[in-house]
Amino acid sequence: MLIAPSLLSCDFSRLAEEVRRIEEAGADWLHVDVMDGHFVPNLTIGPPVVAALARVAQAPLDVHVMIENPCRWVEAYAKAGANVWTFHAEAVDGLEGAREVIAACREHGIPKVGLALNPDTPLEPWEPLLDELDMVLVMSVFPGFGGQSFMAEVLDKTRRLRRIGFQGHVQMDGGLNGETLPLCAEAGADVLVSGSAIFGAPDVKQRIDEFRQLAEAAVATNPS
Ligand code: DX5
Ligand code: ZN
Repeated sequence: MLIAPSLLSCDFSRLAEEVRRIEEAGADWLHVDVMDGHFVPNLTIGPPVVAALARVAQAPLDVHVMIENPCRWVEAYAKAGANVWTFHAEAVDGLEGAREVIAACREHGIPKVGLALNPDTPLEPWEPLLDELDMVLVMSVFPGFGGQSFMAEVLDKTRRLRRIGFQGHVQMDGGLNGETLPLCAEAGADVLVSGSAIFGAPDVKQRIDEFRQLAEAAVATNPS
């Protein structure tokens, strides 16, 4: 079970310190939300900031790109040091478009490639790609902002991924907290992203420990 705090909710004026603080608190991956102001109605950071993060981070950088035309940006994020790079199904032209992005990621040596699905994007049309992916990100909010409410209806996609035998990581992102995170783990997710619930906690280490225990307990009671 991997806990991936989303840096979107950290103090951007002290990025290096926040990275250190969240790593010491037990973060497994550092989730980095890249938004371009086109694919989503918000604008965050780009390759130079990811490169700066890579210089100070020990944990893998899990870069979630909410951008149009992801293929164009693969090389820049590979050079910046992304360890996991997840693009959106809605941003590419079908299976062929997705395969171009995956091929570019492999060519540029990005260690893990993920495909993200918005809450209203069905999984089935993308299933032919599963063998080529290291991770599927099942979005539990519409991307763009932290602090939104969890959409429980997407859990069916996580369950289906495991039912049909997907062996890669299943990540869930958006609205995870002490109540919703166990539902994700029980459904089969193994990478849990949380922004506001972790960075908003009075004690981030305590919150990460609690999340890990809740997730492990949820899996233990329902080891499907
Ligand atoms: C939403 C981002 C998320 C976001 C999660 O567009 O992809 O990673 O930061 O934040 P919370 O946990 O606050 O919903
Ligand atoms: Zn994200």
